[in-house]
Amino acid sequence: MSARAFTPAEVSDLRAAFPYFAAHDLSGDGPAYLDAAATSQRPAAVLDAERRFLETANAAVHRGTSGAVGEATGAFEGARAAVAAFVGAATPEQIVWAENATDALNIVALGIGEANAGLGVAGSERFALGAGDEILVTEAEHHANLIPWQRLAAKTGATFTYIPVREDGTWTLDDARAALTPRTKIFAFAHVSNVTGYVAPVAELVELARAVGAVTVLDACQSVPHIPVDFGALGVDFAAFSGHKMLGPNGIGVLYGRPELLAALPPARTGGSAITRVTMESAEFMPPPLRFEPGTQPVSQVVGLGAAVDFITRADLARAAVREHELVERLVAGITETPGLRLLGPADTSQRIALTAVSVAGVHAHDVGQFLDEQGVLVRVGHHCAQPLHRALGITSSTRASVHLTTTEDEVDRFLDALRGAQRYFGAEVSA
Ligand SMILES: Cc1ncc(COP(=O)(O)O)c(C=O)c1O
Repeated sequence: MSARAFTPAEVSDLRAAFPYFAAHDLSGDGPAYLDAAATSQRPAAVLDAERRFLETANAAVHRGTSGAVGEATGAFEGARAAVAAFVGAATPEQIVWAENATDALNIVALGIGEANAGLGVAGSERFALGAGDEILVTEAEHHANLIPWQRLAAKTGATFTYIPVREDGTWTLDDARAALTPRTKIFAFAHVSNVTGYVAPVAELVELARAVGAVTVLDACQSVPHIPVDFGALGVDFAAFSGHKMLGPNGIGVLYGRPELLAALPPARTGGSAITRVTMESAEFMPPPLRFEPGTQPVSQVVGLGAAVDFITRADLARAAVREHELVERLVAGITETPGLRLLGPADTSQRIALTAVSVAGVHAHDVGQFLDEQGVLVRVGHHCAQPLHRALGITSSTRASVHLTTTEDEVDRFLDALRGAQRYFGAEVSA
């Protein structure tokens, strides 16, 4: 990485742009907010963009002919273009609005289900799945990128397979090479694990998948908010991420797709706005992306997401990535040098970003979480919607600290101190 990390003064200026941090930092009772992987705080620019839109320009986008509708539709489609440019889509039409990443992944899995139930559109044959075909995922997936594929396999008779994780919760290119077969039709995996922080070698994986003719689906929830991501350059067929993890609003997520694949994917949810012609017997659908956006859209959330992309771009995501990496190194060093703390995922920090999850020997994660909460350290405890991964690691839950572009060294140190405090409090200290 060649970009320069933010200076402490720049981080402080960034924090001042977030009402949440400004309020707490000024009052001096600030929590250490280390839960951005679950949901991020929003800068005033995002909150203001939503409010301004609702106060001055709210109208039913893509419906009707008034100037007001035209203006609102312009804001809605402008945000689509901004998101497209941000993630390396060649055209805005490659960006489909969804409720969140979970919904975006379901649009693909359910759509392929429709294609196989005789409800396809022109070109849907490319998604044909049946007995003998395979859907491949990894054991490290978030449930959002696991259950939709389990169900698609059950519906179509395809075989559901997965790449088992290694002892540290990671998996490698070689593991993928061994698991991909000429029968693999779909390969779905996370760019960055929400438990181990492991960064998958996406471009190489896409190449392997292409060689056997498999469609790739990337869960980019934990990458897009933290590092510059170019889906076009990576070559993925589909990708999904959520607005609320990247300084944007709740209720808005994104599905990215390669044009020819989106064109061949039937809509699983149907209704008003997404159609060209409807009779009492049948319906014909719009081209993507509107085909996948039936009903009234979350317009102010879309406008807010556009503002979030603008904020991140101005802040400089490449510099944020360097800064965040330094914080992850600090976390990993603090965890690995403390006896009794088990770091989940690679100790080699060049393989990970964004977060660290730990298991504290002799203390349940919920007890750790309660202790940390009392110290004002906000983290996520539990299985983080990745039960199979925790099971593979021989635990049921862990404690996760995640960083973002506003995180400070002090917040990281408070987390590490609080973990050690929890060990002492619960009598679980381990001598070196
Ligand atoms: C890796 C990963 N995938 C998918 C999701 C689901 O995101 P959402 O709940 O916003 O749909 C998350 C969120 O926790 C995640 O971390």
